[in-house]
Amino acid sequence: MTAADVSAPSSTAPGPLSFAGRTVVVTGAGRGVGRAHALAFAARGAAVVVNDLPDPADGQDEGADGAEGTEGAEAVVAEIRRAGGRAVAHLGDVAAPGVAEALVERAFGEFGRVDVVVANAGIDRIVRLREVTADVLTEFFRVHVLGTWALCSAVWPHLAEQGYGRIVTTTSAAGYFGLAAALPYTVAKGALHGLTQTLALEGARRGITVNAVAPFAASRLAADRTRSRPEMYEAIERVAPPASVAAVALWLAHESTTVTGMAFEAGVDAVGRIAVATGDVLTVDGALTPEDVRAGAALLTGGEVTVPDLGAADRPLTRRLTERAAATATDRPA
Ligand SMILES: NC(=O)c1ccc[n+]([C@@H]2O[C@H](COP(=O)([O-])OP(=O)(O)OC[C@H]3O[C@@H](n4cnc5c(N)ncnc54)[C@H](O)[C@@H]3O)[C@@H](O)[C@H]2O)c1
Repeated sequence: MTAADVSAPSSTAPGPLSFAGRTVVVTGAGRGVGRAHALAFAARGAAVVVNDLPDPADGQDEGADGAEGTEGAEAVVAEIRRAGGRAVAHLGDVAAPGVAEALVERAFGEFGRVDVVVANAGIDRIVRLREVTADVLTEFFRVHVLGTWALCSAVWPHLAEQGYGRIVTTTSAAGYFGLAAALPYTVAKGALHGLTQTLALEGARRGITVNAVAPFAASRLAADRTRSRPEMYEAIERVAPPASVAAVALWLAHESTTVTGMAFEAGVDAVGRIAVATGDVLTVDGALTPEDVRAGAALLTGGEVTVPDLGAADRPLTRRLTERAAATATDRPA
């Protein structure tokens, strides 16, 4: 199959989204959301390069996640192969020099092409405001921003040359709306919004789409983040499988999907768009003064004094989690 064969947009007719003939690279795919991506792509025919750190216990504080023995890039590859799929592991810190290039080269070496990259690797932990230092900020920036950038930059020339590619970045509702005790994480995820938008603009005339998925799903990372609220994690584990996030990533990564520069929050068997909006514009004749702005404040703010706490309980998917968890708790046998 040539690049041109698989680059031709296929029918958008209803039917299963197939990735036969495609090669997909997923970072941080040894567990959690990344593992769900890798399994889902492989199950639909893609050859998958599964990246994670060499030691599955690294990259995050210890926390609960997944069944024993299913973690780590090699375990995920074994799982894919047992199911009849095609996958190889590539171990390495995606933000370290040369690793992303080697990852892309491995994909070409094993499967002869790359069509999709999912930049999923990420870290998080509770960091109180007083604990934020330049080192901590750098640590989060390194994994999220440098790691994503390194992967995109390593694959970009290949995608541009073949005139086709799908890039899915991994942001977070916290990066758009803020989250307490998460400044380094929200700053790094916020930066990925800019990266996604700019690459989407750059990719538009090269056949490359770039979109973000913001997961809301059971994982070690989510367990750590909700450590002080075990009832919340219990609900997440019960009703927010990582497979919901994979469903959205697969849609974004499919050849028939042409949307670009968008972000979708996914989880709890639901998906919703997250969009940065522009509001009403206040115009004046002559030079704008602070008093003009004060006079027009209601127009600019929509009458609000503060934004809703969309980083937490007010978000549609968080409300859905609460509702779903309550409904399934009632359904469960006593
Ligand atoms: N689970 C959620 O609810 C949630 C919410 C918002 C965003 N996210 C994002 O989703 C992505 C996946 O997170 P998850 O919840 O599955 O967490 P997770 O901790 O279960 O998995 C993350 C994986 O990334 C790997 N990783 C970390 N640093 C790496 C590096 N430098 N190079 C290669 N691999 C690395 C880890 O080893 C781990 O296997 C992350 O980017 C995270 O920030 C998750």
